[in-house]
Amino acid sequence: MRVALALGLLVALTGAADAGPDISVCTDCHGASASATEGIPSLGGMPAIYVTNQLFMFREGQRKADPMNSLAEPMTDEDLQAYGAAIAALPPPVYQGTPAEPERVARADAAIGKHRCVSCHGADLGGDKGVPRIKAQREDYLAKALATYKTSERAGFDPQMNEVAGELSASEIADLAHAIARRP
Ligand code: HEC
Ligand code: HEC
Repeated sequence: MRVALALGLLVALTGAADAGPDISVCTDCHGASASATEGIPSLGGMPAIYVTNQLFMFREGQRKADPMNSLAEPMTDEDLQAYGAAIAALPPPVYQGTPAEPERVARADAAIGKHRCVSCHGADLGGDKGVPRIKAQREDYLAKALATYKTSERAGFDPQMNEVAGELSASEIADLAHAIARRP
């Protein structure tokens, strides 16, 4: 499956001189705005620089996650930027699911204030430049990201997020993921 994906990507890259890359291979997994698949993040509305940085880290093996390492491997620096721009143009996801539990939102809001999440992720947690949109991200993916930053299993482009997550407890991570996933 990995080989087939990599070949599909090469075709997409070579056939994409002017119009920008064909991102259908990407949206097959990630969705055109929101991901419908556990473990796969929604990419709609992510800042271009963040996407480019993460693709760079996947290519260089600094962030390890199948299948992204093999997909990024053949990309040139120009490709990384072209994919970043194309992904950033996808519409941001809108949460659809069970409603937020007020007590968990209150606990999450306390942690958001204490750790100053908005100072980097933006007042609406919509991201900017190298900082990702986190609102309306999949709950399971938010929890995984925070837990793996905490243990440094996931390296950040810079260490800021590892430092923040290092101070979060498991129950804070669960409440943050619940509340931020449901943030409009
Ligand atoms: C076979 C499914 C699959 C395909 C195809 C795929 N991805 Fe991914 N992608 C994933 C998974 C799974 C992750 C999460 C890895 C992790 O757990 O850290 C991911 C993560 C990412 C991330 C990091 C997002 C974040 O919020 O940190 C970016 C950026 C990304 N993919 C871009 C792309 C692009 C661009 C393409 C097309 C060239 C693509 N992906 C194709 C499965 C896929
Ligand atoms: C000092 C700035 C800063 C602060 C404060 C901060 N973040 Fe981040 N955050 C970042 C940066 C930069 C990244 C991207 C790091 C990387 O390259 O992986 C990030 C990444 C993330 C991700 C991964 C998203 C994805 O799509 O993979 C999550 C989730 C996250 N932050 C949640 C939070 C939460 C929740 C808080 C508050 C408890 C917080 N952040 C506070 C800068 C910050």
